Amino acid sequence: MSIIEKHTILEKSPTLLFIASFAVVTVGGIVEIAPLFYLENTIEDVEGVRPYSPLELAGRDIYVREGCYVCHSQMIRPMRDEVERYGHYSLAAESKYDHPFQWGSKRTGPDLARVGGRYSDAWHVDHLKNPQSVVPESIMPKYAFLADTPITGEYIQDVMTTHRFVGVPYTDDQLANAASDFTVQADPDADWEEMLERYPGAVVSNFDGQPELTEMDAIIAYMQMLGTLVDFSTYVPDETR
Ligand code: HEC
Repeated sequence: MSIIEKHTILEKSPTLLFIASFAVVTVGGIVEIAPLFYLENTIEDVEGVRPYSPLELAGRDIYVREGCYVCHSQMIRPMRDEVERYGHYSLAAESKYDHPFQWGSKRTGPDLARVGGRYSDAWHVDHLKNPQSVVPESIMPKYAFLADTPITGEYIQDVMTTHRFVGVPYTDDQLANAASDFTVQADPDADWEEMLERYPGAVVSNFDGQPELTEMDAIIAYMQMLGTLVDFSTYVPDETR
């Protein structure tokens, strides 16, 4: 009997076919799922990825509050058209400190995963205040009120402590300096060296150009760091995984 004929027996009996299919799916399932129980971590560690600075974290909360994720994704898929438009595809590690993650599910506007450094702070201010002033055909809503809404670092230590509770490795030193790191990041004249040691790669700037600290400063601090932490000129994927 040829192998094709043997297979005919299987195909003619629903019961046998079900049992055989079940056996194949079970083996496949075990091979895929079982190793996950033995891996300590399924996210590869990548150099440069760090928890958000206090001001970035506050900006991120504003981003979530305003529903920016409804129109913007933060996940560049490993497909040629996306990589050519937005830059290196997103790594899992780049959103490992996101609670909740901001991958999004719809792109009414462009992906923002690598928007950091692409525009000046002043461009962001103009764009957020009135998107049509810089992109005439834009359908993005105006967020001018962010520049009129003062913000303080009063509660940021509590927010960071909560993030530590869910697994973000904020150190005691980072928590202790949360409120001051919050303000110095938006003040180029202040003593921000230590803040920068705690959060390498953070952008120091008077983001909104106004003397007082506003929600506009926080959200731009967040925009300007998006996708900038990993140095892709030296990044090599870990092929052992
Ligand atoms: C109703 C949908 C919508 C919402 C909500 C929205 N945007 Fe946009 N956004 C757009 C569109 C469309 C564009 C492309 C045109 C433009 O640049 O204005 C855009 C562009 C952008 C850009 C420029 C991206 C690039 O690569 O050129 C940034 C930055 C941005 N949005 C940030 C935000 C932030 C921050 C929020 C929340 C405060 C937000 N957007 C909310 C639709 C939206």
